[in-house]
Amino acid sequence: MSNPLNVPLREKNIMLIGFMGVGKTSIGHHLASKLYRDFVDVDQEIEKQHAMPITEIFKAMGEQQFRAMEKDYIVDLCHNTRLKIVSLGGGAFLQEEIRQACLSTSIVLFLELGWESWKKRLHLIVDSRPVLQHKSMEEIEQLFQFRQQIYELNHSSVNTEQLNAEEAACYIIETLKFGWDMYDPPRATLPLE
Ligand code: S3P
Repeated sequence: MSNPLNVPLREKNIMLIGFMGVGKTSIGHHLASKLYRDFVDVDQEIEKQHAMPITEIFKAMGEQQFRAMEKDYIVDLCHNTRLKIVSLGGGAFLQEEIRQACLSTSIVLFLELGWESWKKRLHLIVDSRPVLQHKSMEEIEQLFQFRQQIYELNHSSVNTEQLNAEEAACYIIETLKFGWDMYDPPRATLPLE
């Protein structure tokens, strides 16, 4: 795809950002099936490429190497695909190059959840998230709060506090449709003979 900036609004990839465990993957699956699009989970793609889970990739290659793979994968996706629903790893958006690529080519949607609600999910995800391991609760909260300002660089945000994954997807689709109809109305079609 030569110039991603020419992609019509309603065909742009939708990139889901937010902290680990906020529901990017489950909401992404619902969004993709409701919009008849492909879903891409960046972490799962990297896991497939290396035939090992993220925790093992961190151990075997180190975080820096993981971040480089994450960047290459996402930047390529931004410039060479359209119509995808993409779940980004929670640390991906901290990389300037990833932010630039996503914000200039795609719709970036921040899935928000408050610290108090998020805390209750920690035990469900800690074993598979190396970034959360060997940290105190205070350190995790610092990481959580620090990242919120990075996630604020988005096109749209949704607070998922009171919504299950399907409800969040439906809400997101309503807001997307509003934007699509306003800024990229469907083209008039010629009547069939
Ligand atoms: C990370 C988040 C993870 C995964 C990796 C690092 C992070 O993805 O990319 O463990 O630094 O926040 P999820 O946000 O999908 O859990």
